[in-house]
Amino acid sequence: MGKPSLPESEMAEGPHAPVLLEEVLAALSPIAGSRIVDGTFGAGGYSRALLQAGAEVIGIDRDPTVRPHADALKAEFADRFTFLEGTFSDLDMLAEGQGPVDAVVLDIGVSSMQIDEADRGFSFMRDGPLDMRMSRSGESAADLVNGLDWEELANLLYAFGEERKSRRIAQFIVAARLDGPIVTTLQLARIVEKAIGRKPGDAHPATRTFQALRIAVNGEFDQLVEGLFAAERLLGEDGRLAVVSFHSLEDRIVKRFFDPDKGGPAQSRHLPQTVEEPKRWRQVAKAIKAGQAELARNPRSRSAVLRSAVRTAIAARPLRLDGLGVPGVRGAA
Ligand SMILES: C[S@@+](CC[C@H](N)C(=O)[O-])C[C@H]1O[C@@H](n2cnc3c(N)ncnc32)[C@H](O)[C@@H]1O
Repeated sequence: MGKPSLPESEMAEGPHAPVLLEEVLAALSPIAGSRIVDGTFGAGGYSRALLQAGAEVIGIDRDPTVRPHADALKAEFADRFTFLEGTFSDLDMLAEGQGPVDAVVLDIGVSSMQIDEADRGFSFMRDGPLDMRMSRSGESAADLVNGLDWEELANLLYAFGEERKSRRIAQFIVAARLDGPIVTTLQLARIVEKAIGRKPGDAHPATRTFQALRIAVNGEFDQLVEGLFAAERLLGEDGRLAVVSFHSLEDRIVKRFFDPDKGGPAQSRHLPQTVEEPKRWRQVAKAIKAGQAELARNPRSRSAVLRSAVRTAIAARPLRLDGLGVPGVRGAA
């Protein structure tokens, strides 16, 4: 069987419009010869722009279906581009042996390809298997929906989806399971709608439930925290890190990571409270959001927030969760 390849219409632009591209480029300042890790390769929109600016790029993605996009960049930019399948939580290990890295970028939403393809199971608008696994392996959303007990489900929906009606939705899910397993996206979307109703003009009632399941299935908060600390270890002095996130729970983690004075993990337990721990990040930029022109062109940019900073010479911190505001799920798997 031949390798899947891209339709011609997708070769130039890609099926995923990169968000905040100009702002990301400004934060990373790629120059000829700089080496940059794109930890969320997707359709390669950032990677392409960085390569066009003369940088060398190491693209990482956990989703094996992005491979044709990587092959297209490899064909065009040859040795300046390397693709590695894996998770960005391991980005320092993945980039080992590739030489010093000047910058890292993470764009941690779901790609348009993942959302638009019904059989990936990410969308409550498209009927497909209740899957949501970016890497196509491990536990699926259906496994969680059918396997967790009532309380575990309610806690998961509350913590990861900020769903205030989590307990009622969990009750309806558990009741629906008595008729057989819930296996499709629309089946689940209808159960949630039955549980909490639908008001005209409001977001679809299943929005938060789907977000929570996606975060749980892909371990997204753990990935984000581990990826941030991995970038801190990988980057030397003056190295740049830019992170685009898509909801407030993620943005809070990134903000506190860069600026521990806002509640982050820098303060060591072994130092007296009055001693300020040295900073690992400087030039911590204010949050940047999409402007009117981008919003008009690409509605998916509406919840994107970019944060970036530059690494100091201080040795990286050991990974610590406290102070980052990572939501936890009590009693869930
Ligand atoms: C929003 S898309 C990135 C789009 C990309 N910036 C572009 O311009 O085409 C996010 C991508 O990151 C990947 N991804 C999400 N979490 C990941 C993780 N923990 N490790 C590696 N890849 C991840 C997803 O599979 C998806 O392809």
